Amino acid sequence: MLTETKTKARGLADLPPIQSDSLLELIALCNADPRPDKIDVGVGVFRDATGNTPILKVMKEAERRLLDTQVTKAYLGSAGDKRFAELLRPILLGPHAEDDRIVGLQTPGGCGALRLGFELIAAVNPEARVFVGTPTWPNHPPIIRAVRLGIEEYPYYERGQATIRFEDMIAALEGGEPGDVALLHGCCHNPTGADLSEDQWREVVRVVSERGLLPLIDIAYQGFGRGLEEDAFGVRLMLDACDEVIIAQSCDKNFSCYRDRVGSLFVKTGSHEDTAKAMGHVFHRAREMWSMPPDHGAACAHIILEDPELRARWLVELDAMRDRINSVRQRIAAADPRLAFIGKQFGMFSMLPLSKEQVLKLRSDHAIYMADSGRFNVVGMGDDQLDRFTAAVVGALDA
Ligand SMILES: Cc1ncc(COP(=O)(O)O)c(C=O)c1O
Repeated sequence: MLTETKTKARGLADLPPIQSDSLLELIALCNADPRPDKIDVGVGVFRDATGNTPILKVMKEAERRLLDTQVTKAYLGSAGDKRFAELLRPILLGPHAEDDRIVGLQTPGGCGALRLGFELIAAVNPEARVFVGTPTWPNHPPIIRAVRLGIEEYPYYERGQATIRFEDMIAALEGGEPGDVALLHGCCHNPTGADLSEDQWREVVRVVSERGLLPLIDIAYQGFGRGLEEDAFGVRLMLDACDEVIIAQSCDKNFSCYRDRVGSLFVKTGSHEDTAKAMGHVFHRAREMWSMPPDHGAACAHIILEDPELRARWLVELDAMRDRINSVRQRIAAADPRLAFIGKQFGMFSMLPLSKEQVLKLRSDHAIYMADSGRFNVVGMGDDQLDRFTAAVVGALDA
């Protein structure tokens, strides 16, 4: 007997419209602007002095080698390229690289790692609240909501003062219950560029471990801030203090291979056996979502990291990207005392103390595209556009 249908069957046409990602929308707006001198500081990719996002020379070399030597494209499994994840261990984990309570796997970029990390948390503790800084990278909340975890905000940054609201941050984290999650940026905070000092990391690690919070550290820009080693300070300090830590990592920026989607997730528990159990869940979720990560970018990073000569060449190119970020920061900072804070921040992003109206005016009058929040990519423009950019921003601050 047919059961009675209570609700009318729905077609795809019944879907409500969805609010599109504001940053992707900004890219589309900028692309559609016909003005030849437009400046795109909205997008989150490194650009060199000529305004290009380069393929690293060492990456080209690795791609050539891969082409010459790869003999199969058979499936690798949900963990992806296992050697790739092993080679990342000393870079990310430092003295913890040999700890068999920490296990990692390759993921489709940092986004894949974040999603998988939150999936794992939701599997063990669906009631956990995730403490998320304000502001944070706009894709964090949707990923957390996708796994149906609750979000609690902690104050992170005071835009007008260009300072971290550290006491407020600590007070908010103190309110966490055991099992709640502290989402932290490992380095090069996106969108503010304001990184915790070593002393501040010590304090955060103390609260996280005393309150029994589960830290999830998102580290998407290692090597873009103070240096490859220095940028992992917070990750390693957390590993010193806590039995349970989740790290979502991306190679898309520091290998400049954004669209190849290269990242990893590392999970630490109190014992090798418990980590193996947790990884069982991780593999299961990965299998459901993407089955296995794309190979190409990670295979090239693997080739680079395995070969001492290529690794050395990667480090030189990475240093050059960091040097450019920091020298552009100094140039913008020198343009006006109100921009001096930019010289003290790290990574590709900072936030200008501009209202949304001022941001929109920069867009209409000067073809300068940045997020409505005032977040801009310090290396979003070539050198020839820098003076025009700073003059327009100073003009907007004066207005
Ligand atoms: C803070 C942060 N986390 C994670 C990611 C994700 O990086 P991926 O492109 O590797 O997914 C980004 C990228 O913009 C980011 O800014």
